[in-house]
Amino acid sequence: MPQIRLDKYISERTDYSRSQIKNLAAAGKINVNGSVVKKSDAKIDSDTAEVAVCGNAVAASKFRYILLNKPDGYVSSTTDDDGISVMELIPPELRKKGLFPAGRLDKDSLGALLITDDGELAHRMLSPKSHVPKIYIVKLARSFESKYVDIFTEGITLGNGEKCLPAKVKSVENCDKLAFIELHEGKYHQVKRMFAAVENHVEKLMRLTVGGLILPENLGFGQCMELLHKDVENLFEPPDFYDFSTNFVGYFSAFMLNN
Ligand code: URA
Repeated sequence: MPQIRLDKYISERTDYSRSQIKNLAAAGKINVNGSVVKKSDAKIDSDTAEVAVCGNAVAASKFRYILLNKPDGYVSSTTDDDGISVMELIPPELRKKGLFPAGRLDKDSLGALLITDDGELAHRMLSPKSHVPKIYIVKLARSFESKYVDIFTEGITLGNGEKCLPAKVKSVENCDKLAFIELHEGKYHQVKRMFAAVENHVEKLMRLTVGGLILPENLGFGQCMELLHKDVENLFEPPDFYDFSTNFVGYFSAFMLNN
């Protein structure tokens, strides 16, 4: 039964400061397990307590995990210095200090971006040693060529001499300008540079998975959803590339083709 002060518990999970929590508690606006608690220094069990502030449940997890379907034109940073930040797309009720995009998508790239304040998880996910695979769908300027499969599997050398880890690639059935590609690393503009190295050109790029996190088809561009901690644990259990790409039907490939 890990005991923790109520104000610490709430301030770690929301944007309320300790002094705001003290005032809200005194005003009877804080409930723990269904009862009003008026003292913000009361001790609660952080594993089991159900806490609500002004009638809104406080997330049980200390950390927040948000999956964003990044639209074109936003930058994957916490500030607006180089363009409008993806953080602007987080609805106010999900905002919390310390959130940042765990990983990068180019300004013109689309798709799955995890936003969290869990630095340890982000570090584990982004560490080159973890090799968390990411699957992208790309729209190419020229038709997919079957020789790409062997070239990418062997580990392609980019135009500047940088060597890539082996990657899986496959064209989308009945559509020779769309392809899936799975990477286990994240070099700068990597997918675009890999296709440039085989004299093709990526016109549009969308990330569909980050490890086991799969972008839901009903999550529109610019929309985000809060993930439960158990969903995030799936991060390290990715789908099989060939199963995923074979069974992938839908809205996002239609979008890639028609836009
Ligand atoms: N590779 C790219 O070229 N761009 C991205 O945004 C992600 C991977």
